[in-house]
Amino acid sequence: MKGIILAGGLGKRLYPLTRITNKHLLPVYDKPMIYYPIEMLIKADVKEIMIVTGGNNAGDFLRLLGNGREFGLKGLHYAYQEGEGGIADALKQARDFVGDDKMVVALGDNIIEKDIKEYVDKFKKQKKGAKLILKKVKNPKEYGVAVIKGKKIIKIEEKPQKPKSKLAVIGIYFYPSDVFEIIDKLKPSERGELEITDVNNEYIKRGEITYEILKGWWMDCGESKDALLKANLHLWKNKNKKENSN
Ligand code: G1P
Repeated sequence: MKGIILAGGLGKRLYPLTRITNKHLLPVYDKPMIYYPIEMLIKADVKEIMIVTGGNNAGDFLRLLGNGREFGLKGLHYAYQEGEGGIADALKQARDFVGDDKMVVALGDNIIEKDIKEYVDKFKKQKKGAKLILKKVKNPKEYGVAVIKGKKIIKIEEKPQKPKSKLAVIGIYFYPSDVFEIIDKLKPSERGELEITDVNNEYIKRGEITYEILKGWWMDCGESKDALLKANLHLWKNKNKKENSN
């Protein structure tokens, strides 16, 4: 199982914080944002990791992470995404690295409380298709939202005006290697990007999707400046709580 962390984009929603650095290098409490998805993958025993980045500050990832020794890794892989083609376009850059393997794809600005080991293990046994992780949120309009019938996902709607559920699709996705063939056939959305939601809807159409409801909290800390600040405060408070209870 390969791990791919998507850490590109211009981070426009966080300007001017991201004018001279990449969003995923900004601090979240006591470490750079990119540390969280790396540690999450390693905890789930996914140790072959590629970081896909882009923009003007791509070299800073190498300066910060090098070959991943600090995390106990043998090496880290990097790919460079030209332009702002969206999540599915960023994933495309990992095609050769993944080969025929399965993969877990993590958006570099998504932080979760617990680990994903149980989902990784389930996905290893899954014969076909993709797996998504959903989480109930108060503000579904900001995300991809799952439309559920019975126990099945029948559609994902990207940032809908009138969400049909409160279940957001979080930025941790599991795919088999045929995801690249699906991406090849995608057309850019209205915002000019290759949307990961279109990839997920293709798996739904094929009847090849499973999902989990995430245990513990989830934060998309790159969504806005407020979200970034809240993530910082949340982690700080959590750490204090733990220290006080010891
Ligand atoms: C992306 C996806 C969206 C998903 C979200 C999770 O949104 O398009 O479906 O719910 O990540 O963080 P973006 O952050 O690109 O607006």
